[in-house]
Amino acid sequence: MATLQESPPSLEALRNSLRSTPLLGLFAADPQRFSRLSFDWDGWLVDFSKERVTRDVIAALLREAEAANLSAWIAALFAGEKVNQSEGRPALHMALRQQDDTPVHVDGRDVLPAIRAAQARITALAGALRDGRRTGATGRPIRDVVHIGIGGSDLGPRLVCDALGAILPAGEHPPGVRFVSNVDPEHLTRALHGLDPATTLFVVVSKTFTTQETLANAAAARRWLQAGLPAGAAAGTHFVGVSSNVAAAESFGIAADDVLPMWDWVGGRYSLWSAVGLPIAIRLGPARFAELLAGAASVDRHFRSTPLESNLPVLLGLVGWWNARLLGHAERVVVPYAHALGLLPAFLQQLVLESNGKRVQRDGTPLTLPSCAALWGMTGTDGQHAFFQWLHQGLREAPVEFIVPLRAAHPAGTQQTLLVANALAQAQALLGGRDPGTIRGELAGKGLSAEALEAAIAARVCPGDRASTMILLPQLDARRLGQLLALYEHRTFVEAVLSGINCFDQFGVELGKTLAAPIIAALTDGSPLPAATDASTRGLVARVRAADAPAT
Ligand code: F6P
Repeated sequence: MATLQESPPSLEALRNSLRSTPLLGLFAADPQRFSRLSFDWDGWLVDFSKERVTRDVIAALLREAEAANLSAWIAALFAGEKVNQSEGRPALHMALRQQDDTPVHVDGRDVLPAIRAAQARITALAGALRDGRRTGATGRPIRDVVHIGIGGSDLGPRLVCDALGAILPAGEHPPGVRFVSNVDPEHLTRALHGLDPATTLFVVVSKTFTTQETLANAAAARRWLQAGLPAGAAAGTHFVGVSSNVAAAESFGIAADDVLPMWDWVGGRYSLWSAVGLPIAIRLGPARFAELLAGAASVDRHFRSTPLESNLPVLLGLVGWWNARLLGHAERVVVPYAHALGLLPAFLQQLVLESNGKRVQRDGTPLTLPSCAALWGMTGTDGQHAFFQWLHQGLREAPVEFIVPLRAAHPAGTQQTLLVANALAQAQALLGGRDPGTIRGELAGKGLSAEALEAAIAARVCPGDRASTMILLPQLDARRLGQLLALYEHRTFVEAVLSGINCFDQFGVELGKTLAAPIIAALTDGSPLPAATDASTRGLVARVRAADAPAT
C-alpha cells in the first residue's frame, strides 16, 4: 500500500511553533544546537544558534531559496546578465576584484582589459602621490587629499580608510586623506581647516557627475584653491575625477588624463572596489588595496560555488530575511566590536536600505510584507552605554549582529580580551536575560518593603529571549575587511532574491532631489513655488526667507 509522503513544514508553520518556544528552550531541546547552527568558513565563524531558527527552519528557508531560483540568480549575477532589470544593467562589482583575467562580458565585450587599465592608473596615481612625484601648480608635492563624493561615492572608501588607515606601518608617510560629503558648508570648511592649497589635491567622485552636493562642494573647493594659489596658477591640476561621465568631469575643468573611470554596470554602493577606492590606494598603498580586493574575491568564489546550505552569505541572507519577513522584526542592529569599524553601520545603511528598501517586486507586484528591516548600530562597547538598555528591556525585539575580530591590530594588553568578552556577554544577556527569582534573592535582606521589593524586581528584570547572530573573524586587516564587505553585499542580494525585488536601483531617492530644485530657486531668487506645493512646505519656505535664508 502506498504511504502518503508527509510534506515538510512550511515557513509559516515553523514560525508559528517557534513563536511560543523560548530560545533557551531550543537550547535545552538540542544539546548540539551550537554546533548545528554555527558555520565555519576560512577562519570565520557565524553562530546562528541564538537566532530564532532551527535546522528545520534553515531547511525550509533553503527550499524557499530554491523556489525563488536563488542558484540561478547567483549564476546570472556573475554571468553579467542584466539583473538590474529596471535600468537594463548588469551588476558586476565582482569583476572589479576578480583575481584572474577570465573574460567578463557586458553586451558582448570583455570588460576585464578596461578594469586592468583602470587599476594600473590607480596604482600609478597612488604611487606618485605617496612618493611625492605628483605635485601641485606651484611644483610642491601633494601632502593632503580631500575626497569629495556622497553615498556610494563616499561611504566605502571612507570606511576602509578609517578602518585601516588611521595608524600606518612605521616609515609610511602617505598623504593625509579627508572626506567631504555633506553639502553643509561646515563639512568642507572642517576638511580644509589647516590645509595648504598648494599641497592639496581634490578627488571628485561622482558616477553621474550631476550630484548636487558633490558639485557644490567641488565648486567651493575650486574657489578655495583659486583664492589660495598664486595668481594664474592652474587650479585644475589640483583635481582628479572619478566618474562614468567623463565629459562632465572634463567640463568641470579636470584634465582627461586625471579622470578615472566608473562604469554603469557597477552600482554606487557597490563601487568602492573601483577607482572610487582611489583614496584607499593612496592612504594604504596599492598593495593593501589589492589585498582588500583579493579578500572580497575569495567571498565571491565562495558565494558562487558553495552549495547553498553551507554558503555563508546565503545563510546570512536567509536568516536576515526570516527575521524581517516571517518574524516581522522591523529593525536589525549591527554592532561591530571593533573601533576600526565605527563607520560600518553607516556604510551598511546605504548598502542594505538603498538596495532593499523597496515596495514592489521586479514585475511591479506590490510587496505585502517588508523586504528588509531598518538597520542601525554603533561600535561595542560604546553601544552598550547607549542603546543596549533598549535592546535588553525595551518592548520591541531587534535582532543584533555582533561582528567581532578576535585579535587586536595593535598591541593591546588585556583590552582586546575585555572587548571580546563584552561581545559574548551581551549576546548571552540578550538570550538569557535576568529572571525575577535571581533578583529577588539578591535583594533579600536589603530591608525593602514588600511593595518596594516588587517594584525593584520589576525594574531589574531583563526578559531575555532576544535573538542575535555572532560573527567571529580572526582579525581585521585588508583581506578580512574585503571579505566582510563582500559578505554583506552578497547577503543583501540573497535577501532581495527571496523577496523578488531588484536591489540595484534606487528610484526612491530621486523624488527629494527633484523637489529640491524649485525650493532652491525660491530661496535663492524668490522664484514662485509650483502650484501643487503643499501649505506646509510653502509656510516653511516663507519662514526661511523671512529669516534671511542662508541660501548662498
Ligand atoms: O543617494 C542616491 C545616490 O544616487 C546613490 O545611489 C549614489 O551612491 C549617490 O547618490 C551618489 O551618486 P553619484 O556617484 O552619481 O554622485
